[in-house]
Amino acid sequence: KRRDEGLSRDLYQLMEEASRYFQNQLKQHTDKQKVIDYLAHRGLSDEVIEHFNIGFAPDGWDGLLGRYRQNQDAQDKLLTAGMVIENDSGKRYDRFRDRLMFPIRDRRGRVIGFGGRVLGDGTPKYLNSPETPIFHKGYELYGLYELKQRHRDPNQILIVEGYMDVVALAQFGVDYAVASLGTSTTADQFQLLLRSAKEVVCCYDGDKAGNEAAWRALETALPLLKPGDQVKFMFLPQGEDPDSLVRQIGKPAFEQLIAEAKLLPEFLFDTLANRYGTDKGTLAKQAMGLIEKVQDTVLQSLLLENLAYKLGMNSAEELQRKLGFKRIDAN
Ligand code: CTP
Ligand code: MN
Ligand code: MN
Ligand code: MN
Ligand code: MN
Repeated sequence: KRRDEGLSRDLYQLMEEASRYFQNQLKQHTDKQKVIDYLAHRGLSDEVIEHFNIGFAPDGWDGLLGRYRQNQDAQDKLLTAGMVIENDSGKRYDRFRDRLMFPIRDRRGRVIGFGGRVLGDGTPKYLNSPETPIFHKGYELYGLYELKQRHRDPNQILIVEGYMDVVALAQFGVDYAVASLGTSTTADQFQLLLRSAKEVVCCYDGDKAGNEAAWRALETALPLLKPGDQVKFMFLPQGEDPDSLVRQIGKPAFEQLIAEAKLLPEFLFDTLANRYGTDKGTLAKQAMGLIEKVQDTVLQSLLLENLAYKLGMNSAEELQRKLGFKRIDAN
């Protein structure tokens, strides 16, 4: 146990040193101009680059690793921290090369991982830290620490897909967004979000993947909801993401869209109505399947009444009688 704590402490320190190194490379490296050009092309301000401690991992195999040439222990820990890769013949090299680096911090501000973006059109577009003793992707949110520095007790948090979305929104004054680190927002991440703010607004990209992510988010959030929790969904114009949109329309118009976000029940019923149209039987069955996931009985009753009303029935009781719905508290 004590050994684990000692190891973690060393990993946090190495990650902080790596982050400093990447930030310095952005200021000092001979290749820095192409990064500065890329940042300008993406429209990122110096202030926001500083706030998120964005850096640059230079091209080459041992930019980071080479700084620990005399320190075998540190080299081993860089491997454990996911900053270094070891190939089959035992040769070690930097994981992140020629990429724009976004440090990922935990809630206490410790650097636990990185997202690295290629400077242009290469693949993969983003390279992320692997799971390590200090980095658990499904449990962390990019930008939450940075958000809490500006808003101790936020009313509302926006959950977006990408690093650039968080950073661009913050630059334009929508400084209360975080990103899930991967495609779907996990139950742990929702729990953390709902503990951090009264209202959580899902704001995924305006494309097929984004719409599917929204529906998965609804299914993930349903079992966690308690009365008073507000989960909302906003849908961006086709082809836009929060980064591209806020740059086009600015903060006031973007916040107007946030204000018009759909409440979770509205998104649920609208989607089912779109899918099943006038087929009330299928719609009812699908809705019941989702409502059954809700663990909170007050909220469940509300959704049931809402459904009964949509189906032209008089009450939730009538709906339950007709469809044989088993309530969670029915015992
Ligand atoms: N992502 C990833 N690996 C990829 C592609 C995407 O981890 N190969 C994650 C990243 O966290 C990314 C998010 O999914 O930020 C959303 O992907 P996408 O919309 O494709 O990227 P953007 O964030 O819009 O990136 P950019 O604006 O820089 O193109
Ligand atoms: Mn603010
Ligand atoms: Mn996308
Ligand atoms: Mn984007
Ligand atoms: Mn995107």
